[in-house]
Amino acid sequence: GKPPNLYAFEGADDLASNLRAYVIDAQNSAVDRHGVFRVAVSGGSLPKILAKALLEVKDDRKVNFDKWEVFFADERAVPLDHEDSNYRLVKEEILDKIPAELGKPTVYPIDVKYLDDIQEMADQYEQTLVGVFAARDSVKLPMFDLLLLGCGPDGHTCSLFPGSPLLRETDAWVLPISDSPKPPPKRITLSLPVASHGIKIAFVATGAGKKDVMKQIFDTEEGRQLPCGLINTYAQDRVSWFVDFPAIEGVSFP
Ligand code: 6PG
Repeated sequence: GKPPNLYAFEGADDLASNLRAYVIDAQNSAVDRHGVFRVAVSGGSLPKILAKALLEVKDDRKVNFDKWEVFFADERAVPLDHEDSNYRLVKEEILDKIPAELGKPTVYPIDVKYLDDIQEMADQYEQTLVGVFAARDSVKLPMFDLLLLGCGPDGHTCSLFPGSPLLRETDAWVLPISDSPKPPPKRITLSLPVASHGIKIAFVATGAGKKDVMKQIFDTEEGRQLPCGLINTYAQDRVSWFVDFPAIEGVSFP
C-alpha cells in the first residue's frame, strides 16, 4: 500500500478549508454509497478546528448534517454536561452552532446510566455500534466512513495510550480504561482495530507542541509503535494528516 497522506498548512484558515473539502468529499461518497455518513469524532483540540471547517469557512460545497451519524472515538466516564465530557465539547463547539438549513445530525452519546461501571459503559456503547453497523456476528468490525482523530504529544489517539495493553485487543470494538495518563482516568475508547478500519481516517495536529511526536511518528521506528503510528501502518493511505507548519518543523519525510 501507499503511505499516509500528509497535508501541511501555514495557517488555521488554510487547514480548515482543506479539511472542509476532505470531510465533504467523504460525506458525499458515503451518502452515495449507503445514504448516511457515519463519523467518529475525538475531543481535545479537534472539535474547535472542525467547527471552523464545517461552520465558519464558506464555499459552495454543502455540509448535509441530516445525513450525519456522529459517534465518539473516545469518551470520559462523566455526565454529558460535565466539563470533561467530549460530548459536551462537541455539542458546544459544533452541534449547538449548526444553522437549521444545514440539517441536524443524529448523535450517539454514551449512555450515562453506566458511569459507575466502565466495562458496562464500553459494552453498551459497543451495543450501540452493533445496532447501527450490523449484528456482531455478521461483521468483524464496524466501518466508519470517517474517523476524525487527534494525536496527543505522547502519540496517543482516541484513549489508546502508548504501551497500553489495550493496544493488543483484537476482538472488542469498545474498551474501558481506568488509568488514563491524561485526566480524567476513567474513559471508554474505540479499540485499535476499529480505529484503523475506517474508510477514511484523518488526524488533525497543530502547534509546536506536536513537533516532537510528529518527528517520532514519521521518522523513527519507535514512533511507528505509538498508537498514531500503528494506525498509519495499518491503514496506510486511508489515513490523512492535517497539520500546520509548527507541528511538522524538522520532520523529514521518508
Ligand atoms: C480525549 C480526546 C483525545 C484527543 C487527544 C489529542 O478525550 O482526551 O478525545 O483522544 O483527541 O488527546 O488531543 P489534542 O488534540 O488536544 O492534543
